[in-house]
Amino acid sequence: MSTGARFRLSDLRLPVVGAPMAGGPSTPALAAAVTGAGGLGFLAAGYRPVDRLAADVEEVRGRTDGPFGVNLFVPDPAAGHPGADLRRAVEDYRRALAPEAERLGAELPAVDPADDDAWAEKLELVERLRVPVVSFTFGLPPQEVLSRLAAAGCTTAVTVASVPEAVDSARAGADLLVVQGPEAGGHRGTHRVDAVPGEEPLPALLGAVRAAVDVPLVAAGGIASARDAAALLDAGAAAVQVGTLLLRTPEAGTSAPYREALASGRYSGTAVTRAFSGRCARGLRNGFLERYTHMAPAAYPQVNQLTKPLRAAAARAGDPEAIALWAGTGSAAAREAPAAEVVRELVAGRSAR
Ligand SMILES: Cc1cc2nc3c(=O)[nH]c(=O)nc-3n(C[C@H](O)[C@H](O)[C@H](O)COP(=O)(O)O)c2cc1C
Repeated sequence: MSTGARFRLSDLRLPVVGAPMAGGPSTPALAAAVTGAGGLGFLAAGYRPVDRLAADVEEVRGRTDGPFGVNLFVPDPAAGHPGADLRRAVEDYRRALAPEAERLGAELPAVDPADDDAWAEKLELVERLRVPVVSFTFGLPPQEVLSRLAAAGCTTAVTVASVPEAVDSARAGADLLVVQGPEAGGHRGTHRVDAVPGEEPLPALLGAVRAAVDVPLVAAGGIASARDAAALLDAGAAAVQVGTLLLRTPEAGTSAPYREALASGRYSGTAVTRAFSGRCARGLRNGFLERYTHMAPAAYPQVNQLTKPLRAAAARAGDPEAIALWAGTGSAAAREAPAAEVVRELVAGRSAR
């Protein structure tokens, strides 16, 4: 049962959320640094084994007394039973990836469409540990999950990429919505794998969502400056969420080739692709993205499973051309500076409302 008040965005000293970033960049040190600066730091549960996630939560609590969040990937119950067309599309993609696997000296694995990233165990963990904020992406969890977490004292947040997703999530009882625009680095949080995410820029999407629902909104996607942040806060966001801007901070777990790619400025911007995971995500336009975007099927988690050994081999070799270099449209603004400095500068002169 709940002890004490649940977290509210107005509890923050600064209206900044450090985006959860699965796959390495999110670390307890980064979450604690964002929280320590007055914002809301996040851990990413996606792809993370449950025992490691539990240790991460403990480490954040050892580093800060302030609020923090854990983000979970919501599995699609239908994903475990792909139709014949989707199964064929995955096998076609496997064949297309074979030369890449050979080049990298990696094996393409069997896929398991029913893999739900230990959903039930992770939910049980965040509830038991009474994580202050539990956010979700890739879907809207069942209403009873949101109410169970609220009863345990957790504040819940759901990522939305469209007005209908926002309306459904508010109706289901989400305490906060993370409104994610097309500029965002990493995966779009569309509630369906095969959804074609909208192109409406974040300020317009935020305005449309604000007109449709009455819950506090966190604006995310391509926020690269204090001016961007101020415009969104003035337009009614209760806080802004940044991911890409934190990738080069020393506290982030971003790999060396990924950092180098961001710093180099040698890529011609970012693009949205299903090539790495089967879900739409924005990243720097490296060789893999350019070669495979046009043929990748909307199959998650299968495509993610297929490319995992390729990405791992490329990372081991320090080769940025076949790793997922997730980044938003503001990637050029990411700089090597302490996370607390990045957070403070983003909202210099403002406080949370
Ligand atoms: C490397 C990386 C990993 C990400 N992983 C997650 C994740 O695990 N869960 C999630 O909800 N969002 C994830 N995102 C998206 C962020 O929550 C957020 O929407 C995005 O970073 C905002 O856009 P920006 O990167 O331009 O600031 C990720 C983003 C990046 C750049």
